[in-house]
Amino acid sequence: MCGREWAALAQRAFRALLMKPRRPPILRGMDATTLATYEREASRLTGRYETADMSATHRLLLKHLPAAASVLEIGSGSGRDAAFLLRQGFDVTATDASPAMVAEAKAKHPELDDRLLLTAVPLDPDSLLLTRRFSAVVAIAVVMHLSDEALGTTARQFRRLLTPTGLVFVSASVGRAGIAGQRDNTGRLFIERSPDELTGIFAEAGFERVELYQNSDAFDREVAWFSLVFRSSPAGVQ
Ligand SMILES: C[S@@+](CC[C@H](N)C(=O)[O-])C[C@H]1O[C@@H](n2cnc3c(N)ncnc32)[C@H](O)[C@@H]1O
Repeated sequence: MCGREWAALAQRAFRALLMKPRRPPILRGMDATTLATYEREASRLTGRYETADMSATHRLLLKHLPAAASVLEIGSGSGRDAAFLLRQGFDVTATDASPAMVAEAKAKHPELDDRLLLTAVPLDPDSLLLTRRFSAVVAIAVVMHLSDEALGTTARQFRRLLTPTGLVFVSASVGRAGIAGQRDNTGRLFIERSPDELTGIFAEAGFERVELYQNSDAFDREVAWFSLVFRSSPAGVQ
């Protein structure tokens, strides 16, 4: 067996280890009402997410992610973007905190079966994922479900999860209708943050912003989307 085959075998074995439930899934990091909404609405939301026109965001991902990079996706939902990245030749690991969303994603994209992990961010400190290193972390439409404290901890974990030249790609939105007291009308925690606010949180975790893009809404709503690309700051944690 050649070196590359050994490496592939070791990677498969490691993935199988990650998939093996060591104890009940650790979902502490996810807001309980948000989780309940995704559990209840998983099937409907999957149908909706799969119809979103993600071409602009996908172009940005292809522009920034190094070819064949190892990518960790956080809050992968229906698996739409993880499946896209896999088709493009990236070595994808996708994660989501909702068992129902993970089940929907696996049904919709069976090719993700051994790449999809049920886990919440912030990761549990003894998560095996924290022993791995990725070239990029992708978080599309998920950071609004994290409190400031949870997002700060998650961003610091991204530093550990990334190779020294690794990138973080975050997409988020502002201006959504129906948000009151940081909750949307289904009860999900929904903290809208401007690009500068997100940049500040990531700067405190040791990242600097490389790019900021504005995207239109994939469902043509009056919502302003933006994508941010971060890399580890040479100065380290502020
Ligand atoms: C709005 S959906 C976006 C899904 C997908 N990224 C997309 O753009 O279509 C947010 C997803 O993040 C997941 N999620 C929410 N909070 C999370 C957390 N703390 N850790 C991991 N996943 C989370 C939800 O279960 C849901 O699947």
